[in-house]
Amino acid sequence: MNDIFRIRHSVRSYQDQEIGPEKLQEILDAADSAPSAGNLKAREVVVVRDPKVKRELAEAAMNQGFITEAPVALVFFTVPSRSAQKYGQRGQELYALQDATIAASFAWMQAVMLHISSCWVGAFDEEAVKEILNIKGEERPIVLMPFGYSAESLMA
Ligand SMILES: Cc1cc2nc3c(=O)[nH]c(=O)nc-3n(C[C@H](O)[C@H](O)[C@H](O)COP(=O)(O)O)c2cc1C
Repeated sequence: MNDIFRIRHSVRSYQDQEIGPEKLQEILDAADSAPSAGNLKAREVVVVRDPKVKRELAEAAMNQGFITEAPVALVFFTVPSRSAQKYGQRGQELYALQDATIAASFAWMQAVMLHISSCWVGAFDEEAVKEILNIKGEERPIVLMPFGYSAESLMA
């Protein structure tokens, strides 16, 4: 784990190399293994591989073009009512956010273990992201994460 924390950093340039389904599944499993309030898992994740959808997401994220370079983007959502049913307002406003944030962090740590890089993208238009992904409910997108093999060492 020490190495994982030491080497993790935000990567904003990715190689044109796919992430295999097994590796993606490991990343998703890590997210799913994260703790959550009352084990209610008041979060969801949407997997985006479609280049057109990634382009739209990048536009909704203040034109952060590196999102389109990554083979996979994960969008983490809160599902506030899932936590609110047991914890009321605190679940609604706080625990759901924490559930989603921890899951995203676990996904990133697992990715680093697989030599896959990411960046935490928080600057985006939430309504635009929901529309692009056709999410019509209460779910709130809280972080958008491109995942891919770093191209940083190939630069310069
Ligand atoms: C809440 C949050 C929002 C962020 N939003 C963005 C973003 O929209 N675009 C981006 O390129 N980096 C974003 N970052 C990444 C930070 O800039 C980065 O983590 C920080 O500069 C430290 O660098 P490191 O991750 O390489 O250690 C965000 C990080 C956090 C925690």
